[in-house]
Amino acid sequence: MSAAVLEQGEDAFRKIFRLYRRKNPPADLSGVLEYRPGESRLRGAELCVGAVTDQDAARVGLQPLHQWSAYHVDGYPGFLFIVNPFLPGWQHRWVRQCLKRYPRKPNVCNLDLHMSLDGDLWGLSHAQLRKKSSQGRSEKTLLEKLRWVTLGLHYNWDTKKYYREHQSPFPVDLAELSRCVSLACGFQNFKAEAGILNYYRMDSSLGIHVDESELDHSSPLLSFCFGQSSIFLLGGLSRDVAPTPMMMHSGDIMVMSGASRLLYHAVPRILRHPGGGVLPPCLSVSPSSDERDALLEPCSPADWEVCESYLLSSRINMTVRRVLEEGGSFPAEGDTLHIKATQGDTYHVEDDESEGVKRVRTTVKD
Ligand code: SIN
Repeated sequence: MSAAVLEQGEDAFRKIFRLYRRKNPPADLSGVLEYRPGESRLRGAELCVGAVTDQDAARVGLQPLHQWSAYHVDGYPGFLFIVNPFLPGWQHRWVRQCLKRYPRKPNVCNLDLHMSLDGDLWGLSHAQLRKKSSQGRSEKTLLEKLRWVTLGLHYNWDTKKYYREHQSPFPVDLAELSRCVSLACGFQNFKAEAGILNYYRMDSSLGIHVDESELDHSSPLLSFCFGQSSIFLLGGLSRDVAPTPMMMHSGDIMVMSGASRLLYHAVPRILRHPGGGVLPPCLSVSPSSDERDALLEPCSPADWEVCESYLLSSRINMTVRRVLEEGGSFPAEGDTLHIKATQGDTYHVEDDESEGVKRVRTTVKD
């Protein structure tokens, strides 16, 4: 059956999701929105350039705000796309944090049940990953089996809730990056309280969902991408609305706020960067070693070798959320809050095995 034909009970979003998920024949990508000047569906977005000093931006690896390119998309008020605003050589530090620091305790990840409490995915994988860069494929390392990490208030995938009792300190560097981006976009009260990091392989996808478990929907959801590119589908308040496909590349940042905060979205496909190189050009430069008062230590050549080998076939996404409203508290037990993901969809990254036939949930339950 052609992917363009609606299956019984299938909604408009799922139809488009299947279209871009398809490998054979691959979907025509000519309708996928690219964020570049001259694209008719885009409007340049004004940022609050005075809200973050150049020094504060540089401490987390961001260019001065007046150099950023940001866009609104017609039909999606509150949605903002910032084209890679990172300083050259700085994404490397964020990638290293995602692979080496953030998966460690007290943060929570999909491999926790498979590891001892002091398990160190980086320590258990780096030698193998470094070898792989020069010696072809061997068995997947643990880092390559990592699918998600939660930070701060740890999202519970089973109940789809956050709990006051289940939290750990939110990483200071990522909180500061989020503060700078949210201030630039005009949000003065953003507080990074929860983070979900998704780790995609080339055959991974992220199901159709809405992020509504947070109790504060007046704060934006911030999304940061690194590594290989992806197609992102941005839909409507119902799955009957056909989504807009858009391309996300390494370093790009998305902000979902206002009327776009609760829209359905999904990532049906990971794609190699169109530039032709194995890594996008912004990652092919040397890691920056400039210290200034950087909040993140430089990524050493040895660490970058591991990250680079990992990123050849991977994408990383970090989403940062505020969970509680100013002065707000957690609801009493029994009150329900759901992430809208319906039958057949999972909200976390899943992989395709055997060419899209068998889909495996890569959670701790597997
Ligand atoms: C993405 O990986 O770009 C999206 C992540 C999410 O929707 O949570």
